[in-house]
Amino acid sequence: MSKVTVVGAGNVGATCANVLAFKEVADEVVMLDVKQGVSEGKALDILQTAALLGFDSKIVGCTNDYAQTANSDVVVITSGIPRKPGMTREELIGVNAGIVKSVAENILKFSPNAIIVVVSNPMDTMTYLALKATGLPKNKVIGMGGTLDSSRFKCYLSKALNANPTEVEGLVIGGHGDTTMIPLTRFAGYKGRPVADILDKATLDKVVADTMVGGATLTSLLGTSAWYAPGAAAAYLVESIIHNQKKVIPCCVLLEGEYGQNDICIGVPVVIGKNGAEEIVDYKLNAEEKALFEKSAAAVRGTNNILKEIKAL
Ligand code: 2OP
Repeated sequence: MSKVTVVGAGNVGATCANVLAFKEVADEVVMLDVKQGVSEGKALDILQTAALLGFDSKIVGCTNDYAQTANSDVVVITSGIPRKPGMTREELIGVNAGIVKSVAENILKFSPNAIIVVVSNPMDTMTYLALKATGLPKNKVIGMGGTLDSSRFKCYLSKALNANPTEVEGLVIGGHGDTTMIPLTRFAGYKGRPVADILDKATLDKVVADTMVGGATLTSLLGTSAWYAPGAAAAYLVESIIHNQKKVIPCCVLLEGEYGQNDICIGVPVVIGKNGAEEIVDYKLNAEEKALFEKSAAAVRGTNNILKEIKAL
């Protein structure tokens, strides 16, 4: 029996739960929210698609009742406020730090063995906070950002290439911020061919720029943060954990010397399996990529420092 809890039944959390149920990733999906009735309602709504879509995952919702989440294998934390147009992810730290910390602590009371997937923004800092506040081993706390950013990168690449997105390779490392993420064009490919051999530099530069503001573009169109791709990205990580798929997924984990960094959670390619973040994969970065990664890490560290200022850590 596998069980996954999604905390926060807003747009991202509900989408994640919907994908998990539809794909039958787990036997049971629990949604928990602070707003009375919201997760119960959304869980029931999703359950009422089972006969139409043909799945048999159990899905339940509850209002702040952590006992219902007991013995979850994986817990996805989406709680917190989303971005409004013009806001950066970093501006959410004051409100979201307190929420993420208390959610992580409550979860572990009932699921001490759970692997935690952090979605709340600013995602790299919230992952670091969840790791430090809980004292969990580093393989058990994973931030979702690079998974989403890589999917957006593949989306824009596939449009430029006029190709099927599932046949395009692309990974984004670094922080999950408009100016901190690093789409690695050198490692991007289409059916084994480097994309730089197919697309001209101006087109590739535009793909990179569109990827980096991928979230902000949607925030200005929608008036709030995106949810389909963020929810699906979290579910993609959960699936690799629950089914021990050992996919190499860019995501946010603690670095202890890897990529030249220490004491920071930031996006790198990681083998994701039943033990969570099982191995950080060392893509050999060139000097230019290393410089971008260092700059990105410095920016994430700057946001992490706010945790101390606001006494969240
Ligand atoms: C995004 O990039 C919500 O951070 C998320 O859309």
